[in-house]
Amino acid sequence: MEKVHFTEEKATMLATLYGRALDSRLDDPILGDRAADDAVRRIDYDFPKLGLTGERASAVVLRAKPIDDWAAEYLVKRPDAVVVHLGCGMDSRVYRLDPPPTVEWFDIDYPEVVELRRKIFPEREHYHTIGSSVTDFDWLDQVPSDRPALIVAEGLTMYLKPEDGAELLRRLVAKFPSGELICDVFNRLGIKLQKINPVVRKSGATLYWGVDDPREFERYGLDLMSSLDASEWATPDVMARLSPATRMQLRMSKYLPVVRTMARIGRWRF
Ligand SMILES: C[S@@+](CC[C@H](N)C(=O)[O-])C[C@H]1O[C@@H](n2cnc3c(N)ncnc32)[C@H](O)[C@@H]1O
Repeated sequence: MEKVHFTEEKATMLATLYGRALDSRLDDPILGDRAADDAVRRIDYDFPKLGLTGERASAVVLRAKPIDDWAAEYLVKRPDAVVVHLGCGMDSRVYRLDPPPTVEWFDIDYPEVVELRRKIFPEREHYHTIGSSVTDFDWLDQVPSDRPALIVAEGLTMYLKPEDGAELLRRLVAKFPSGELICDVFNRLGIKLQKINPVVRKSGATLYWGVDDPREFERYGLDLMSSLDASEWATPDVMARLSPATRMQLRMSKYLPVVRTMARIGRWRF
């Protein structure tokens, strides 16, 4: 067992890992991420204390599923891509998507997080980890710049200061010949109401960057391809697998635009 001690934004990745592990224990899971459950069983940590149980655990996999689907679509189109997975935490996305050997995959998070990843997850060819803050931009030199890039950032943007997030996007767009960005954003109200989110409250993390309209990224050279607000993350097939309580919550959120648009997933090209 690996004993861990993480605080603030680094602790939040243990909550999302636990959400995926709980999903994988269901008879009819949405992501079915067995690697997440194996990881949870090997880490000595009081996972439920971050408040991500029951309905909130479903929200984690509901967000991850369309991100996985969009990422898989891109890699079919561009099997020569590099993947830059920012704020990867303990997400086993590389094992879920299992890209072909022509794809070079980079997982980036703080050094302590990457150190834990290296202990828990197996190595694989064409897979690399970089231990750095995403906003200490020297890490960019470790990633080849002559290939199309798929940039994925799940549960990261809101933790960045707006000016740092903007600079990160500008540098990524400038670095690669072309690519796609897939990430989620909170709107400014979501940032204001951050303390109603138990994971944020219990981890002691602070959220900074709110994005009301995904077209705001156009100023960094990113063209919006599609975006889904929280009520649209579940496809009918996924909806059918949710508990009645979660289904009801999602249906109700459709009629509450303020809640519905608090968290959004987007896909942009450059
Ligand atoms: C909510 S977790 C999400 C983790 C993972 N993407 C997932 O979905 O399970 C937020 C992650 O962002 C990372 N993070 C936040 N700010 C960061 C920064 N400036 N540089 C690198 N990683 C950062 C945290 O360490 C944490 O792993």
